[in-house]
Amino acid sequence: MIIAVDGPTASGKGTISRQLAQHYRLPFLDTGLLYRAVGWTLRAQGGNADDASDALAACRFHSDLLADPGLRSEEVGGLASRVSVHPAVRNALDKRQKDFANQPGGAVLDGRDIGTVIAPDADAKLFVIAKPEARALRRFSEMKSRGEPAVYEDILADILRRDERDQNRAAAPLKPAEDADLLDTSDLTIRIAVQQAIALVDARISRRVDIDPT
Ligand code: CDP
Repeated sequence: MIIAVDGPTASGKGTISRQLAQHYRLPFLDTGLLYRAVGWTLRAQGGNADDASDALAACRFHSDLLADPGLRSEEVGGLASRVSVHPAVRNALDKRQKDFANQPGGAVLDGRDIGTVIAPDADAKLFVIAKPEARALRRFSEMKSRGEPAVYEDILADILRRDERDQNRAAAPLKPAEDADLLDTSDLTIRIAVQQAIALVDARISRRVDIDPT
């Protein structure tokens, strides 16, 4: 079974996907980490994130890098958002994600284009959203709890900037697949959001079984 989870930054999709993977005992890939690894490598190489060939050159990174906690920083997230607009970068990361999705037994992947590009035949697709203000507050609290300096207004502005870049890029823009279930987490605790996500996936699976009993 393949479960595709997409949505904007700080919508809760990461936590929900991880818990879905645990619940259904499936391997999980946070595809944002791949783009973050490109952003990180580009910075180490002194490249320009807005330059397609610099960004493509940064796609050759060692998989060990994916475990580096430095990838989680806001700065690397911003670079990831910029390198991800280049079609050449998306192509370079495409096979790795598709191979992960199509492994025997299935997988859970989270990102921006999983339900539309990486796994269009996924058994269940969730599109997780939340109001920008709710997302900014979550990010603010996360940063504070890590002891990082955080200014709510700056975080909100950054979230709006990333949304705009994700939604308006020509290559694989952020948008729900036609057959995705929308999950708005603005007013939900994470526990309830996960329960609703499981209910949506279960409903999709049982509908598929009804249609195709093989
Ligand atoms: O944590 P956050 O949601 O901010 O970011 P992420 O999921 O780690 O992804 C970092 C950046 O990579 C995002 O801002 C997206 O622009 C980009 N990305 C993408 O274009 N496609 C994906 N499948 C995953 C991430």
